[in-house]
Amino acid sequence: MSKQDAENYATASLFSLKGKTALVTGGSSGLGLIMAKGLLCNGARVVIASRSQEKCDMALAELSEFGECWSLATDVTVSQDRKRLLQFVESKLGGLSILINNAGANWGAKLEDYPDEGFEKVINTNLSAVFSLTRDAVPLLAKSALKDDPSRIINIGSMDGIHVPIVQRIPTFAYSASKAALHHLTRSFAVDLAPRHITVNAIAPGFFESKMTDYVFEHYKQDIEDDCPLHRVGKPEEIVGIVTYLASRAGAYTNGTVIPVDGGTSISKGKRPWTE
Ligand SMILES: NC(=O)c1ccc[n+]([C@@H]2O[C@H](COP(=O)([O-])OP(=O)(O)OC[C@H]3O[C@@H](n4cnc5c(N)ncnc54)[C@H](OP(=O)(O)O)[C@@H]3O)[C@@H](O)[C@H]2O)c1
Repeated sequence: MSKQDAENYATASLFSLKGKTALVTGGSSGLGLIMAKGLLCNGARVVIASRSQEKCDMALAELSEFGECWSLATDVTVSQDRKRLLQFVESKLGGLSILINNAGANWGAKLEDYPDEGFEKVINTNLSAVFSLTRDAVPLLAKSALKDDPSRIINIGSMDGIHVPIVQRIPTFAYSASKAALHHLTRSFAVDLAPRHITVNAIAPGFFESKMTDYVFEHYKQDIEDDCPLHRVGKPEEIVGIVTYLASRAGAYTNGTVIPVDGGTSISKGKRPWTE
């Protein structure tokens, strides 16, 4: 092996994000905050966005210890907010090499009580806003893209877009549908954007601790663990690992995939001894 090969294969170089620029929607808490930290720790400069100014401020204070980071209060479902966000990204970062569509919402209710506005809210946040923001971010992503180092779009899907979730006992019709559609939108975008040297992949997480999973962790953590072949929930570094792979030189040839990070939960039949 040549000295050059040895350098190229070493993880410090292969997974480095030095010089990269990233936008993480929903970066003020949960998985978004974890991913933003991971990006910063591996050398990227990062903008985070979420609706609450207070949450953005708190997250920024935490993230700034790890590298160069900015935040902008943004509702991704609002067209003017998205436009302002992309102008902000351009002014702070110059271009954009990594877009992480992570902002997400959920709504659980029995079928007969499931309101239209709940369904629309979830679809708007998890699917329609991803389509619109991505479409409008393409010029910035293309500006940073190289044939051998494409820009990356990483959509945060869910294992619930692969299987029908029941562990939480409350149906989440819109959530599962939105994530399944997001997985397929990922494939459509991947085909369309490849000629512009932009790759598009989705991560389908299983259960990770966050505000979104507070309730289900409090009530059904044991069932979640029993349902997972590895008998545990995910750890923050396991999300950072997959994002770093997809965003770095290591993941440059991975395109149009949906990668479950769920300990095998979505492919197991699961044991469901509970009755209620
Ligand atoms: N945690 C899990 O186990 C798990 C599993 C599978 C998939 N996921 C996915 O991971 C992503 C992050 O979820 P999480 O678990 O980390 O939940 P979380 O802690 O509730 O984070 C959601 C983030 O999205 C932001 N957000 C919500 N609506 C928004 C909007 N309209 N515009 C801009 N930002 C918005 C929230 O901030 P504001 O309130 O300030 O807007 C927050 O920063 C979601 O797409 C979720 O579906 C999570």
